[in-house]
Amino acid sequence: MKGIILSGGSATRLRPCTKVTSKQLLPVYNRPMVYYPLNTLIRAGIKEILIIVAPERAGDFLNLLGSGKEFNVKFTYEVQDKPRGLADAFLIGEKFINGENTALILGDNIFEDDFSAAIRDFQQGGRIFVKKVSDPERFGVVQCDQQMKPLKIVEKPKEWISDYAITGLYLYDPRVVAAAKSLTPSARGELEITDLHNWYLERGELSVSPVSGEWIDAGTFDSLLKAQILAKEKLQDKLVI
Ligand code: TTP
Repeated sequence: MKGIILSGGSATRLRPCTKVTSKQLLPVYNRPMVYYPLNTLIRAGIKEILIIVAPERAGDFLNLLGSGKEFNVKFTYEVQDKPRGLADAFLIGEKFINGENTALILGDNIFEDDFSAAIRDFQQGGRIFVKKVSDPERFGVVQCDQQMKPLKIVEKPKEWISDYAITGLYLYDPRVVAAAKSLTPSARGELEITDLHNWYLERGELSVSPVSGEWIDAGTFDSLLKAQILAKEKLQDKLVI
């Protein structure tokens, strides 16, 4: 399994703190934010990781993270010229993926869980990880049947369909590259990850796993504050880098 960490974007919701730096380089307690999703991948046994960054911050990421040798893994870097959406990761990452299974994690998502078993056991299709939340209208949401079989996915639903938010960790088989290439940009001009999940859902090949520990999407000031506290109180003994 290869890993991709998506660490570009514009981070408008964290202005002015992100005017001269990147969201994923802001401190979350005693580490830069990007260390936490990197930890999730490395702790799960992933050794080859592609880091996708915005052009104006590429040098900072390289200076901070280097080759990966220090952490016993190999980092590769790619620049995303414009924030064209989450599914763009698979167009940028095609060569790196090279026909293998891939785990994608968002650079601002902080997890408590250990995903080693899920990643080791994954074989094919697409897999999303979900968490019950009190504010599903903020997230991509999935409606499931009693057996957790996914029925429907809606991005930021205005009408309630489910409390299961789709978190920022996803597993895919090698068809993800062709699936991403088949997408057309949405009204906001992005290749939407929801469309990628619908591609697998339509073929009956999307599976859903629950996240049991804490999960925070640290992209707003309030969630960033919560992430700082989580990192201090619960994550320190789980960090491998
Ligand atoms: P978002 O939080 O959805 O977007 P953003 O980081 O640009 O923030 P804002 O909405 O406040 O403007 O992005 C989720 C993660 O994915 C985050 O780590 C940034 C990354 N990302 C990219 O690398 N490229 C992209 O094209 C997009 C949309 C996001």
